[in-house]
Amino acid sequence: MYSFRNDYSEGCLPEIMEAMVKTNLEQTVGYGMDYHCENAVALIRKAIGRPDADVHFLVGGTQANRTAITAFLRPHHAAIAADTGHIAVHETGAIEASGHKVLTAISPNGKLTTADVERIVELHPDEHMVKPKLVYISDSTEVGTIYTKKELEALRAVCDKLGLWLYLDGARLGSALTCKENDLTLEDLAKLTDAFYIGATKNGGIMGEAMVILNPQLKEDFRYHIKQNGGLLAKGRMLGIQFEELFTGDLFFKAAAHANAMAQKLQGCFDRCGIPMVAPSPTNQLFPILPNPLVEKLEKLYDFQVWAKEDDTHTSIRLVTSWATPEEQVDAFIKDFEALVK
Ligand SMILES: Cc1ncc(COP(=O)(O)O)c(C=O)c1O
Repeated sequence: MYSFRNDYSEGCLPEIMEAMVKTNLEQTVGYGMDYHCENAVALIRKAIGRPDADVHFLVGGTQANRTAITAFLRPHHAAIAADTGHIAVHETGAIEASGHKVLTAISPNGKLTTADVERIVELHPDEHMVKPKLVYISDSTEVGTIYTKKELEALRAVCDKLGLWLYLDGARLGSALTCKENDLTLEDLAKLTDAFYIGATKNGGIMGEAMVILNPQLKEDFRYHIKQNGGLLAKGRMLGIQFEELFTGDLFFKAAAHANAMAQKLQGCFDRCGIPMVAPSPTNQLFPILPNPLVEKLEKLYDFQVWAKEDDTHTSIRLVTSWATPEEQVDAFIKDFEALVK
């Protein structure tokens, strides 16, 4: 049964596997101090147009978020996130377990607005409450939507006004930056955020997230935080090699563009069939809202995540495409889906 459950269902891009094999018997120093990591850092600095950026490699998204957020905050500080935000719902309370509250705003489209941020700050005026200090957003969001440049600029401005850090979770940044509606670049992110990470796990890497820290105030001792959070890999070069491959040419963008193209082909089918979506997603995650009997029939043909009960008769499902999704599987899904809704 073909799976549209995730963009990490497969191993890795063949180019990455080849690089792993080619470098297998090399002896390097550990903990990310090897020349592959150094080269990957240089490539990322070039791609974002910021030779001054600190770049660190971590294994996964939860680890990246926890390490960064705990490093950037003081004990009484809190993070602001959309109620759908990954740190708010899908990280086992990792941020709260470190002592920092996650303050959420209701956001059906997965995005935080400046009004959300201002309202949460207003609601926390003094030392009897936690102090909001960091705005957490992801691009793409939990429901596949993306931020526009204007929206990100507005968030930057409100963060500057209120003295907040702006941190962007880029687990699916490749998909966000290569989708049709996108008007942001890596350079923009490097200008507008205090820190962000570039995800490889969901874009063709075996695993790995590149944390980019732009604000000098947030750079100090970050490697200590990685180590204390269990993230400093002895065989750190495994991460460097992957990012070297992704950023030597345009592999990072090519892989994500394929995932988007496959998802948007599915979207075309849902549009033709008049299927409503949880939110308009131009990226590689789609959330169609389907009648319950249709979900049951589809489940017999394909693997996917049942997302949420929308009402008594409808359920939303999540379909995710990846760098590896074959177009034939998308075509087969479309054919089967159209036959079921006839
Ligand atoms: C936006 C976002 N951030 C972070 C993560 C967490 O990644 P991991 O499962 O590698 O901890 C995910 C995983 O789905 C995600 O979608």
